[in-house]
Amino acid sequence: MKNYQAPQNYLKDKVIMVTGATDGIGKEAALSYAEHGATVILLGRSTHKLEQIYDEIEAKGYPQPALIPLNLQNTAPEQYQQVAEVIDKEFGKLDGLLLNASDLGLLSPIEHFDEETWFRVMQVNVNATFLLTKYCLPLLKNSAAASIAFTSSGVGRQGRAYWGAYSVSKFATEGLMQVLADELEKSPILVNSINPGATRTKMRANAYPGEDPNELPSAQDIMPAYLWLMDTDANTNTGQAINARDFLV
Ligand SMILES: NC(=O)c1ccc[n+]([C@@H]2O[C@H](COP(=O)([O-])OP(=O)(O)OC[C@H]3O[C@@H](n4cnc5c(N)ncnc54)[C@H](OP(=O)(O)O)[C@@H]3O)[C@@H](O)[C@H]2O)c1
Repeated sequence: MKNYQAPQNYLKDKVIMVTGATDGIGKEAALSYAEHGATVILLGRSTHKLEQIYDEIEAKGYPQPALIPLNLQNTAPEQYQQVAEVIDKEFGKLDGLLLNASDLGLLSPIEHFDEETWFRVMQVNVNATFLLTKYCLPLLKNSAAASIAFTSSGVGRQGRAYWGAYSVSKFATEGLMQVLADELEKSPILVNSINPGATRTKMRANAYPGEDPNELPSAQDIMPAYLWLMDTDANTNTGQAINARDFLV
């Protein structure tokens, strides 16, 4: 997988939704997919940040994106259904779904873990991911070849002290990926998870305030893995736990 080079414009006519598209890895992925020809649907909780990315994509002459302002923390199930209905009306299909938005919560021992924070992290990282996936599946089934990428973490593959709700939510994400991949095994929809690895973003800085961010790969550095995930000619994997680090050159 090293040295993967995304073909120019290979996402032309594809519609890809990215959650948490307003910052860090999600923002970079949305820009990269648009650069390669995709119409991106940007989902985020800050309308202001969404509009800034919209402007950036338009200024670069990439396909016109669509915006979905949604706070995953307090969205009712019916609203996810409405999101899918809007996409259906506008595009009639989804070729890619990058479930990237996440809430880090806080680092704390389980014995003292703040309950409100636990529930919020599960809501954003697990329940919202499930609901979006559930309601977007009919749209993904309208695509000739679709790809769903769930976002995991090192602590979603091996538990680590004090990573509490975030770690547990990422294990749940891996579980959702495996269950869905098995259900869709005979369909043209690929279902995988990606662990970006330590990446220079706001979330990483919050988790490791003492670390020098300049020593970490940037979101741009890890894009080959994200581009590959949506390349349904190159990527034929399903049910796999992918590491973005394996694509770093
Ligand atoms: N960076 C790393 O080292 C690392 C390592 C392992 C896994 N990951 C995973 O990679 C993914 C991207 O993380 P990142 O590092 O790019 O973090 P980030 O820069 O903090 O971006 C997180 C994104 O999620 C959005 N978000 C958070 N809560 C939300 C909510 N309630 N509703 C809607 N959107 C919400 C944020 O919106 P705002 O812009 O409004 O804040 C932002 O767009 C996450 O799933 C994370 O768990 C990252």
